[in-house]
Amino acid sequence: METINWSDLSFGYMKTDYNIRCYYCDGKWGELEVSSSEIINLHMAATCLHYGQESFEGLKAFKGKDGKVQVFRMDENAKRMQSSSHGIMMAELPVEKFEEAVRKVIRLNERFVPPYGSGASLYIRPLLIGSGPQVGVKPAEEYLFLVFVTPVGPYFKDGFKPAPVCIMRGYDRAAPQGTGTLKVGGNYAASLVAGNQAKEQGYAAVLYLDPKEKKYLDECGPANFFGIRDNTYIAPASNSILPSITNKSLQQLAVDMGLKVECRAVPVEELATFEETAECGTAAVITPISRIDDLDENKSYVYTTDGKPGPVCEKLYKKLQGIQTGDEPDPYGWTEEIL
Ligand code: PLP
Ligand code: COI
Repeated sequence: METINWSDLSFGYMKTDYNIRCYYCDGKWGELEVSSSEIINLHMAATCLHYGQESFEGLKAFKGKDGKVQVFRMDENAKRMQSSSHGIMMAELPVEKFEEAVRKVIRLNERFVPPYGSGASLYIRPLLIGSGPQVGVKPAEEYLFLVFVTPVGPYFKDGFKPAPVCIMRGYDRAAPQGTGTLKVGGNYAASLVAGNQAKEQGYAAVLYLDPKEKKYLDECGPANFFGIRDNTYIAPASNSILPSITNKSLQQLAVDMGLKVECRAVPVEELATFEETAECGTAAVITPISRIDDLDENKSYVYTTDGKPGPVCEKLYKKLQGIQTGDEPDPYGWTEEIL
């Protein structure tokens, strides 16, 4: 077996041993199947290819000090995939089937779970696509659910180090009453041009504003946003952002640490009042924001210049990672031991 340099991993694809597949046909889901092929055989008129019937998820498994492997809040990902499916008229996969597939794919790829302390984790990528043919704009009658895994390092190249983001009003990732709350491929396609422009200018991501009025903060291309002020964790509420499981977890941890939590519309001007700001998500974990440049208004909001995360982000990050790896007790029942 090739040797993997765990601490040098970036957030990318690596071939692993097995993936799990499950087909929906004649109105019902079949049994989970194990595959060692990276290739899927797909009808050329499949609705995922033409009309975007596609949803994906992202979750992680972690190895603890004792070598045990646990997965974080997979029931939440299963439920969110159901909600995405409902939103674009795909067959909903039962939560138990999703969980069984995740357990199985982790166990079968045990040798790819990064060691404790490497800073890497096993990223689990469930995918649901309309696989049946249509030419008219209609939902498919057949679906394929699959889950693969790949070991990953940090999503943003510097990991838990503050990075700059930018505001660009010329692009939206989702429409006001559109698919922003769903984890569907089209939202990510819509974010590629702006994301690429941001990267070319040295930013880690775009911080999108609400698409209707451009008055309120929404979220970043691949992660939610939060700000900290006066011992309060402030997160945007919006009809066009993904309900992040990490954000929801951090809000619970913040309450338990004695912070207040506000989830509400956050006007752009409030950026000037935050002590700390960050992106959060499964891939991003917590990525502190060093500076937000509003490229249209020629304004900069600076949160840190010394390259260090703020104290609240630091505390939340440690607590979250502690629970995920099993270093800290899990009073919420968020983790499940798989191996
Ligand atoms: N927002 C977007 C657009 C995302 O793609 C993700 C990643 O899944 C998140 C937020 C964070 O969600 P979660 O914490 O559930 O991974
Ligand atoms: C995740 O955080 O799991 C994501 O899906 C974000 C990104 C990789 C699209």
